[in-house]
Amino acid sequence: MGKSFILLFFLAIFILPHDNTLLANISTDEAALLALKSHISSDINNIIASNWSSSTPVCSWIGITCSSCHHRVTALDISSLQLYGTIPPHLGNLSFISSLDISNNTFHGDLPVELAHLQRLKFINAKNNNFTGAIPSFLS
Ligand SMILES: *[C@@H]1O[C@H](CO)[C@@H](O)[C@H](O)[C@H]1NC(C)=O
Ligand SMILES: *[C@@H]1O[C@H](CO)[C@@H](O)[C@H](O)[C@H]1NC(C)=O
Ligand SMILES: *[C@@H]1O[C@H](CO)[C@@H](O)[C@H](O)[C@H]1NC(C)=O
Ligand SMILES: *[C@@H]1O[C@H](CO)[C@@H](O)[C@H](O)[C@H]1NC(C)=O
Ligand SMILES: *[C@@H]1O[C@H](CO)[C@@H](O)[C@H](O)[C@H]1NC(C)=O
Repeated sequence: MGKSFILLFFLAIFILPHDNTLLANISTDEAALLALKSHISSDINNIIASNWSSSTPVCSWIGITCSSCHHRVTALDISSLQLYGTIPPHLGNLSFISSLDISNNTFHGDLPVELAHLQRLKFINAKNNNFTGAIPSFLS
């Protein structure tokens, strides 16, 4: 067996199936954000409820920034919107996100461990919420 074959074999078996960035696209990001929307049980200003609609492009939704080249979600800022709810594991599918700000709301429960999948994530602000315990070590 040639070296390149062995390399391909290892890529196929060990790396590719775990790289969720390969098959994901903006539809994956949309599904993740709609999951987040469905976990927001109170949105007294009716912001996410009215604005995050699948009839409009994800990149035009309030609080969302997309990259122009890959057309994927790179930042989510839903700080200070008086949202009450939990953070679903689906946010771990936002594979291009580098900045996540959910601060100053009333999110509760735990931050999902799936957020550790986000290899491009550089900034996270979850302060001023009602999460159980501290920011988990997997995010540090
Ligand atoms: C995203 O990928 C799925 C299959 O993986 C495909 O059905 C869908 O049309 C794609 N969506 C976009 C917007 O490219
Ligand atoms: C959602 O909010 C953005 C930014 O404020 C705005 O440009 C867009 O028109 C809004 N979309 C809907 C459907 O309300
Ligand atoms: C937190 O959110 C409330 C309600 O939107 C706002 O009035 C307040 O200024 C925010 N505080 C900070 C520190 O951002
Ligand atoms: C996204 O994440 C959730 C939960 O972590 C998972 O169930 C789902 O299948 C993932 N993939 C897509 C494409 O939504
Ligand atoms: C935050 O959690 C504490 C303890 O569970 C609870 O007593 C308090 O009412 C919660 N605050 C809000 C604003 O939901």
